[in-house]
Amino acid sequence: MAFVTREALLALALASLSYSAPLIPLAPRAVALDNVSQLRPEYDYVVIGGGTSGLVVANRLTEDPTINVLVIEHGPLGAQDGGTAVPGLPVPDRYKRDYVSVPQPGLNNRTSPVYTAAVVGGGTVVNGMFFNRGSAADYDAWEKLGNPGWGWNDLLPYFIKSETFTSPSADIAAKYAGVISPEMSVHGTKGPVGSSFSNYQYPIIKNFFRGWNAIGLATQPEPNGGDANGAIYGPISAMAKNQSRDDASDAYYRPVAGLRDNFHLITEQTVTKINLDGMKRANSVNFVARSNTTMTANTTVTTAYATREVILAAGAPHSPQVLQLSGIGPKDLLSSLGIETLVDLPGVGRNFQDQPSMFLQFTCPMTIPYFSGSIVAYIPLQNMTSNYLQVIDRAAAVDPESLFPADCDPTILAGYRAQRDLILALYASAHATVQEVAWAGGNTVSNALLKPLSRGVITINSTDPTAPPVFDYRTFSHPTDLDTAVLSIRKIREWMASAPMQEVGPVETYPGENVTSDADLVAAIRGFATSTWAHPVGSCSMMKREYGGVLDPELRVYGVEGLRVVDASMMPMIVGSHTSSTVYAVAEKAADIIKAAQNATPRHSHSWQPPGPPPGQTFQPEAQQ
Ligand SMILES: Cc1cc2nc3c(=O)[nH]c(=O)nc-3n(C[C@H](O)[C@H](O)[C@H](O)COP(=O)(O)OP(=O)(O)OC[C@H]3O[C@@H](n4cnc5c(N)ncnc54)[C@H](O)[C@@H]3O)c2cc1C
Ligand SMILES: *[C@@H]1O[C@H](CO)[C@@H](O)[C@H](O)[C@H]1NC(C)=O
Ligand SMILES: *[C@@H]1O[C@H](CO)[C@@H](O)[C@H](O)[C@H]1NC(C)=O
Ligand SMILES: *[C@@H]1O[C@H](CO)[C@@H](O)[C@H](O)[C@H]1NC(C)=O
Ligand SMILES: *[C@@H]1O[C@H](CO)[C@@H](O)[C@H](O)[C@H]1NC(C)=O
Ligand SMILES: *[C@@H]1O[C@H](CO)[C@@H](O)[C@H](O)[C@H]1NC(C)=O
Ligand SMILES: *[C@@H]1O[C@H](CO)[C@@H](O)[C@H](O)[C@H]1NC(C)=O
Ligand SMILES: *[C@@H]1O[C@H](CO)[C@@H](O)[C@H](O)[C@H]1NC(C)=O
Ligand SMILES: *[C@@H]1O[C@H](CO)[C@@H](O)[C@H](O)[C@H]1NC(C)=O
Repeated sequence: MAFVTREALLALALASLSYSAPLIPLAPRAVALDNVSQLRPEYDYVVIGGGTSGLVVANRLTEDPTINVLVIEHGPLGAQDGGTAVPGLPVPDRYKRDYVSVPQPGLNNRTSPVYTAAVVGGGTVVNGMFFNRGSAADYDAWEKLGNPGWGWNDLLPYFIKSETFTSPSADIAAKYAGVISPEMSVHGTKGPVGSSFSNYQYPIIKNFFRGWNAIGLATQPEPNGGDANGAIYGPISAMAKNQSRDDASDAYYRPVAGLRDNFHLITEQTVTKINLDGMKRANSVNFVARSNTTMTANTTVTTAYATREVILAAGAPHSPQVLQLSGIGPKDLLSSLGIETLVDLPGVGRNFQDQPSMFLQFTCPMTIPYFSGSIVAYIPLQNMTSNYLQVIDRAAAVDPESLFPADCDPTILAGYRAQRDLILALYASAHATVQEVAWAGGNTVSNALLKPLSRGVITINSTDPTAPPVFDYRTFSHPTDLDTAVLSIRKIREWMASAPMQEVGPVETYPGENVTSDADLVAAIRGFATSTWAHPVGSCSMMKREYGGVLDPELRVYGVEGLRVVDASMMPMIVGSHTSSTVYAVAEKAADIIKAAQNATPRHSHSWQPPGPPPGQTFQPEAQQ
């Protein structure tokens, strides 16, 4: 999530950054929008979505000059303008495709935003740049769920591979001695993504750390080493040399643009369907121009062919949509829309998770605005309340069947039960976290619930691939999420009441100092919380098929050959952190998995006509079904 304010400009001036970033010319290998004649007849791999994960995989696969890759991206190539380059400036709306959820009963029927990027580089071009990892226990829980090879020790080499970490400047290191103390063995120094520290913090930030320490939350000087709890001054995804944003496009696309003939990128195109052959092997992808905002009989559909694999990297909001449009998903849903079910996979779109957030308001006479989202507290449940075992017992007593529709597929329930036990074990751990508090020094204290027990769902309600899917977070459908929300507000008040924070003199203006009973706090939370911390995950989860999963531990879609999902939707349980660094590590690992499988996946040249029309011909609506 971004913590930017307009006053950030002031901070920028103080940080003496340069605004004169030159525009990068259109990369030579990007194929012109309306010129499908530049596409190769076939590629080894077609990647759907040129966002964070898609660019990582495309870059790594094209290290081999004999491997041809096409990336198809809905958004444009960014111009490195505004906040896409300089932290704190606003990010232009044209790089986003934001939606709203359906009304949330848990939020008094208010809707919540669904933030999604639409630009080469994806979420990392528009995000808040906080660059942290979850706790080791968070990833170990993925493995315990039945995903061998996905524990912390397996992922750590990929966190390292993706980053170039730079220790704080001498000035910051001296001012924050003991607060930041990097352990170089968990960091990379040769990877594509810069991970570094803001060169400036307002002095008031010291009160943040002293305040938490005063109420028993220690400072964690190396938050990215597997013990991601405590008060943290963390790194951001920025280039140390000039404090500029380092997004996935800067890291994995621009350095090779024009240098690799085997890496094609076509922008402002929307993938509408993955085509399966008679053996249920994904062998091609249909797409239309982004400007075609509705499909008619006259819309030109282009098909790109993959001789080895189709790689889905459209992000957690869109990957389930593309699968469902392609006949891969819950049979009932697909039938209701007249889509032929090619693979009945009830989990596609299920297990959707994000971190509900609340923005508390205080007035601070010493308030100074600031733009960095890297000053945070990550809090285990046992440090939120001494009664944490009661919270866990109450959560364990909730019948999972009460949380899902009566006709819910039994595999979804089985998967939820397995997850719940693992999440409650994390709730009991001193090393895994439930609450994040982010403070930039201003009036807003951002508060997020890191590991909710509620689960949402993403479904298409139209066969028109240009229509957005329906997003239902189902926020607070599990009552324990309201219990932890109440505790989280009380924790913030305890911190604000500490002597070091009282030096700042905060007065709570929202929810307000008179809102104290559990019932009044619950009412306030339902009235002001939002479903998202801009970290949607889980909608195509890596889980056993008998758990309602979509992907096996090699990220292959069940029931289909030649199709993997490599983006944030694969996370079966959200981790106690922001998500971008985990997405990079997952995609780096995915690239290695795909490379290792190359010998076993020989090229299949397409010898059949796909169900969609050939390149340059027109769309027949029934061909999409
Ligand atoms: C506003 C915001 C703030 C955030 N703040 C932080 C933060 O501070 N720190 C942090 O670590 N994380 C943050 N995140 C989250 C993080 O950026 C994401 O988890 C991560 O970038 C997701 O990567 P991805 O590859 O899964 O998807 P994305 O990077 O979103 O890539 C998916 C791409 O697929 C494209 N696409 C979608 N559908 C289609 C289609 N049908 N055809 C063709 N292309 C398609 C999209 O345009 C997009 O470019 C934030 C995210 C947002 C949106
Ligand atoms: C920072 O450096 C990168 C890489 O050299 C460059 O692309 C970018 O434009 C620079 N940022 C600014 C704000 O000058
Ligand atoms: C399309 O691309 C081909 C091959 O690069 C080129 O010769 C042609 O001029 C292009 N046509 C248009 C309309 O851009
Ligand atoms: C939310 O909407 C549902 C369905 O319309 C309704 O039954 C319920 O009473 C509403 N809840 C609130 C708090 O308004
Ligand atoms: C949480 O509380 C426990 C028990 O008081 C304490 O030992 C531990 O250090 C605390 N955790 C942090 C991160 O401060
Ligand atoms: C498709 O194009 C034809 C010929 O240009 C036109 O008559 C018809 O109205 C168009 N149909 C739609 C749905 O746009
Ligand atoms: C689809 O988009 C293309 C490219 O912008 C445009 O030329 C064409 O008219 C659009 N077609 C329809 C049917 O909207
Ligand atoms: C799909 O759902 C959205 C609400 O999320 C609604 O606005 C839209 O009309 C629905 N479309 C169809 C075809 O039912
Ligand atoms: C708290 O005070 C505000 C402002 O006076 C008022 O609007 C609100 O209803 C009060 N809330 C409670 C729970 O008393």
